Amino acid sequence: GGEGHIEDIAFSFEGPFGKFDQVQLQRGLKVYSQVCSACHGMQYVPLRTLADEGGPHLPGDQMRAYAQQFEVFDPEIDDFRTAKPTDHFPGSQLENAPDLSLMAKKRAGFHGPYGTGISQLFNGMGGPEYIYSLMIGYHEPPECAPEDFPGSYNAAFTAGGYPEECKDEHGHPTVPGSWIAMAQPLWGDDVEYDDGTEATLEQEAEDVAAFLMWTAEPKMMARKDAGLTGVIFLTVLSVLLYLTNKRIWAPVK
Ligand code: HEM
Repeated sequence: GGEGHIEDIAFSFEGPFGKFDQVQLQRGLKVYSQVCSACHGMQYVPLRTLADEGGPHLPGDQMRAYAQQFEVFDPEIDDFRTAKPTDHFPGSQLENAPDLSLMAKKRAGFHGPYGTGISQLFNGMGGPEYIYSLMIGYHEPPECAPEDFPGSYNAAFTAGGYPEECKDEHGHPTVPGSWIAMAQPLWGDDVEYDDGTEATLEQEAEDVAAFLMWTAEPKMMARKDAGLTGVIFLTVLSVLLYLTNKRIWAPVK
């Protein structure tokens, strides 16, 4: 397909001091639960982490109630039972819908320039930007495509089918993106947000992208904290070593 069209979003968790926005993660969880989970799973995400600080931080009783809506197979009793907080989200319901647990780190939104990856150094990998762009990337199929071409046209998705009719004489694609097997999942007003935020398509896309970044890297905030502590520690150590060095060599000079 053609090069994907990616929108850059200023997510709250970007940069060395960035943090997940707890209320946004709760909105993203709602979009995931009410729309995406019809087909997709998140089998690597333990349900209890919904109560984690630094994540959606649901109150304990809400997290437990959330877990109880699922039935899981328990090999110990050789039967199905109600899910517990220690169980994980269910896997994908639809065979060809990929698991979304780690999707925000599997895909890159930013590349280049010219394959150097320099834009990733400054902007991050762009996984959540990719998911956002995928959600808002559905458009009328371009004129060049035959009417019966399978799938939905998406300007951000590059891995799908692409009609020969939309290539120029050198075989280069003439329109961005490609055709995806997932029909447009978000349209706006797909959920009703508890915090009163208006559920526009862009808002839902941003919230679910932020939520999937959290599922892919739940310890991001701890990692950034540890990094900052390290930098401060090394700075103080450098100053002390500099002064020590001065003092040791003072008699010789
Ligand atoms: C693929 C996200 C809802 C069916 C994907 C991919 C993502 C995604 C990130 C991977 C794209 C890639 O490979 O780069 C979402 C989100 C949803 C949602 C965030 C909710 C807002 C749904 C629903 C269905 C579905 C409701 C089924 C009706 C699929 C299928 C694929 C897919 C079949 C594979 C597409 C292909 O490889 O051509 N989805 N999805 N998705 N999704 Fe969804």
